[in-house]
Amino acid sequence: MLIDVILTPADIARLPQRDLSEATCVVFDVLRATSAMLTAFAHGAAQVEPVRTLDEAFARRKETPGVRLGGERNGERPDGFDFGNSPLEYRDVRGARIVWTTTNGTLALKACEHAQMVMLCALLNLNAIAEELRWHEPERVLLVCAGTGDDFALEDAYGAGRLIAELPDSKLTDSAQAALAVAKAFSDPLEALRASANGQVLTSRKRGAELEWCARVSAYSVGALMDGAIVRPIE
Ligand code: MLT
Repeated sequence: MLIDVILTPADIARLPQRDLSEATCVVFDVLRATSAMLTAFAHGAAQVEPVRTLDEAFARRKETPGVRLGGERNGERPDGFDFGNSPLEYRDVRGARIVWTTTNGTLALKACEHAQMVMLCALLNLNAIAEELRWHEPERVLLVCAGTGDDFALEDAYGAGRLIAELPDSKLTDSAQAALAVAKAFSDPLEALRASANGQVLTSRKRGAELEWCARVSAYSVGALMDGAIVRPIE
């Protein structure tokens, strides 16, 4: 298995032009989109549909009564949405179909839509995804770190590095070696999340409990796969 890592939103923006037909993409937005989506699946959500814009989200709700809207702009719940982007909001969502839009995470998912396989990862389901990869043994794995705004995000590189550490026989590109080095630099996941720019903003907004939630490595055994435009939990 060859593991490569995309570390910046600028590189994510170029993914639609790349041939990913033989790549398995694993998308990380540890703070907080993939952590929140995986929390929703762990609490029984049926599906998530990532979309790029608020207008698309409102249009989807009009077309499909019953869907609920989740996500953020500037870190907060957009007006008219049912949920924000905090994982803590997704603990009572059994059967829900959620259309979701965020600044980085849902863009990263959409950018991988044409890949052979797309999985969602966070610290919360690290072992589950490592097991999926060991089972499928894809030749090429691309770990896609969603980032924060236009920038590299430490917490996503940390998550990618933690996953790489679970797959010791893999061949690593330079960016994969860098992510692994980031993971090794922190003895405690919460320390890594608190050190990140995004973690510091969330802490200053009294959202420290969300960091603690997202730092629980392999708390869930739920995997999630994007099939076309829809993300579903792996049965
Ligand atoms: C994103 O997708 O940009 C992040 O999840 C933003 C956030 O944490 O609110």
